[in-house]
Amino acid sequence: MSTDYRQLEQHYGVTLYPKRDVVMVRGAGALLYDEAGREYIDCAAGIGVANVGHCHPDVVAALQAQISRLMVVPNTLYNDQRSLLLEKLVQCAPENLTRAYLCNSGTEAVEAALKFARVATGRTNYVTAMRGFHGRTMGAVSATFTKKYRDPFAPLVPGFSYVPLNKIDKLAAAVDEHTAAVMLELVQGEGGVNIAEREYIAAVRKLCTERGALLIIDEIQTGFGRTGKLFACEHYDLQPDMMTLAKAIAGGVPMGALLLSERVQVEPGMHGTTFGGNPMACAGALATLSVLETAALPQRAEEMGAYFEQRLMEKPLAQVRSVRRLGLMIGLELKGKVQPVLAALLERGVIALPAGATVLRLLPPLVINKAQLDEVVAHLQALLGE
Ligand SMILES: Cc1ncc(COP(=O)(O)O)c(C=O)c1O
Repeated sequence: MSTDYRQLEQHYGVTLYPKRDVVMVRGAGALLYDEAGREYIDCAAGIGVANVGHCHPDVVAALQAQISRLMVVPNTLYNDQRSLLLEKLVQCAPENLTRAYLCNSGTEAVEAALKFARVATGRTNYVTAMRGFHGRTMGAVSATFTKKYRDPFAPLVPGFSYVPLNKIDKLAAAVDEHTAAVMLELVQGEGGVNIAEREYIAAVRKLCTERGALLIIDEIQTGFGRTGKLFACEHYDLQPDMMTLAKAIAGGVPMGALLLSERVQVEPGMHGTTFGGNPMACAGALATLSVLETAALPQRAEEMGAYFEQRLMEKPLAQVRSVRRLGLMIGLELKGKVQPVLAALLERGVIALPAGATVLRLLPPLVINKAQLDEVVAHLQALLGE
């Protein structure tokens, strides 16, 4: 008798996510395969992780080589892979970001940013955006607007206030001499694919500088080519004081990073991590960055995103209020609930994501091709056309 993996997860796992009734066992490029061998077009990419595609051969080869060479080395010793990755990250980030701290997830990168902002400014408070999402640890969840994520865990880290995106007067009213940092996503992922306006971000940068608050940009979901540039900051000609990274950074291996400007200085011993910057993740990240560059995946994200949008709009979509898109970060604001549409897409062999109750979010691997996008479009048109 074959193993019932669903039953094992339900029985022994902590149920924190509503699950779809499918067991995935293999991935390649933009495709996933379930235990029966059925193929799916993956427009979730592990929630924005598999930007270079599932099991990219260069990433697999780099990992295999590294695993047989060295898997762990503490941060008290130097390491070849870590040093090369630090150099690479700083070289491809906005110019003013000169150093990186390596960790294991997005929420850890955010946590470090919040701590470092207090140390660098001597101030205690933070301003973040309504509908923003920054993670699940105590600091990151305190920074996250949605009440259902925060309220069960009160009391939270004090000092957070939340302002609507794209309203500079509201931000100006919230930032004062106690504000250590303003933290924003340039495209809110979990909050509904809401895109920050260029003029707003320019005004935010100016305001933070004038008032002595640091500007942290959370690129955990937007980074590594997703929006059509290596980092979304490039769309805005923006130099943040800190930038958080994770998700797609290492081709599927868990990793996070925080990039810092010279305004942010910390002392040895103030913060740390056992696994952060481990040689496996660093080797995976180096290979991932190399693939993003050599295959020009950020440009491809914009080309494929534009193609998808143009094809999608060829037919009327009665159930869709609006489409928001930057590169291959796509949100369809629906007139009704998203969950039944996600279930129907799964039945048709397409994996997609929600972003709130009524937004259907697509974050396909950047290697997805036109034929695969055509298929996704056909299913969406069939489901949302009337
Ligand atoms: C913008 C943003 N920040 C932070 C996080 C948290 O990252 P992680 O789940 O790796 O802790 C996420 C995850 O979805 C995210 O989208």
